[in-house]
Amino acid sequence: MLKNISLPLEQYAFQPFDFTKLFGNYGSIEAEIGFCSGLFLSEYANSKPNTKFLGIEYSPKFFVRGENNLVRKLKQDNVRIICFDAIAVMKELVPFYSLDAVHIYFPDPWPKKKHHKNRLVRFENLLMIHNRLKKGGKLYIATDHPEYADFIAREIAATGEFFKQLPYGEEDRPIKTKWEKKQIANCWTINYFLLEAK
Ligand SMILES: C[S@@+](CC[C@H](N)C(=O)[O-])C[C@H]1O[C@@H](n2cnc3c(N)ncnc32)[C@H](O)[C@@H]1O
Repeated sequence: MLKNISLPLEQYAFQPFDFTKLFGNYGSIEAEIGFCSGLFLSEYANSKPNTKFLGIEYSPKFFVRGENNLVRKLKQDNVRIICFDAIAVMKELVPFYSLDAVHIYFPDPWPKKKHHKNRLVRFENLLMIHNRLKKGGKLYIATDHPEYADFIAREIAATGEFFKQLPYGEEDRPIKTKWEKKQIANCWTINYFLLEAK
């Protein structure tokens, strides 16, 4: 069983991650924002044993739940997790052009207009994530909130200079998140987006 996969914030808050120190020799690195229960992250990381993963979750309650699941389920030591706001972590700690993929599944929709500024998937954050992805790196997004889906589509349309949008749907997802499975069982429409960094 793995023990220490959690990165103490106080130790890492002051300089960008050195992924070689965190992971040793590495090839690809992917990040999941809002991993919650960690069930997708553990299954996905087990399916790609040679890829390294950074999980970011800001709710301490979900972080602990996710950490417990990850420690129990991971078959290899390829995941590190940190409990903090993902935008701050990406901006301050993730080096430029370092990631092969970023996954954002079912980000909180913040439905009231005055709260749209809190949305994770919006133009400003898309540009920041673009700067953390390698050229050709992928950004995966899913939402079951219809209005947020329209909002995301508009924000993506404004980033055409930076991202190419690729076809992507449920059939392309052999591994699904906990919330995704639940909403598919509830017959909710899920909107998927896949962007490739130019
Ligand atoms: C609706 S849940 C979806 C959980 C999971 N991705 C899934 O599909 O089952 C959204 C998750 O994102 C986390 N989250 C929201 N905003 C975040 C942020 N700025 N940084 C890190 N985690 C965040 C929440 O705490 C929650 O665990």
